Amino acid sequence: MVKVRVAICPGSFDPVTLGHLDIIQRACKIFDKVIVAVPINPSKNSSFTVSERMELLKLATEGLNVEIDSVEGLLADYAKKKGATAIVKGLRAMSDFEYEFQMALTNKKLNPELETMFLSTSSEFMFLSSSMVKQVAGFGGDISHFVPECIADIITERLSGSYLK
Ligand code: PNS
Repeated sequence: MVKVRVAICPGSFDPVTLGHLDIIQRACKIFDKVIVAVPINPSKNSSFTVSERMELLKLATEGLNVEIDSVEGLLADYAKKKGATAIVKGLRAMSDFEYEFQMALTNKKLNPELETMFLSTSSEFMFLSSSMVKQVAGFGGDISHFVPECIADIITERLSGSYLK
């Protein structure tokens, strides 16, 4: 029987950016199945609801062989349930490393079968973050270079004026 290699790309995706999409696309080239997972974390102050973030992800990943899902509880348990053997994350700079490394080691302890793979962010997205996108959109700025074209207007409409109140 052929083994299907399943990976999870987890993240807040608040909202998804071109940097995230680049990592998801590259994960799709390595794994047979990629699950993009949005955690349900009521303690985190997100600008978009989990269902809004999932809807934006669905639009942004149209045409890719990915499943968009939400995760309640530990990612390590979710990975086991889904038969995933890897978590794929993007690393922008050394400043990302400490937190990501801590998460990778925690997940490895919780689920020893689960590997974390880091893909280095493509150079054109090194500077990009969801918070930067929100700030620019909040002031009514152009985010078309930062997020997938098909969701730029939705994000701008939803956030414009949010920093002007
Ligand atoms: O985009 P983010 O905020 O860096 O993503 C963080 C994420 C979703 C990967 C992390 O918060 C997570 O894995 N949450 C699920 C809960 C969990 O498993 N926590 C223990 C891992 S350290």
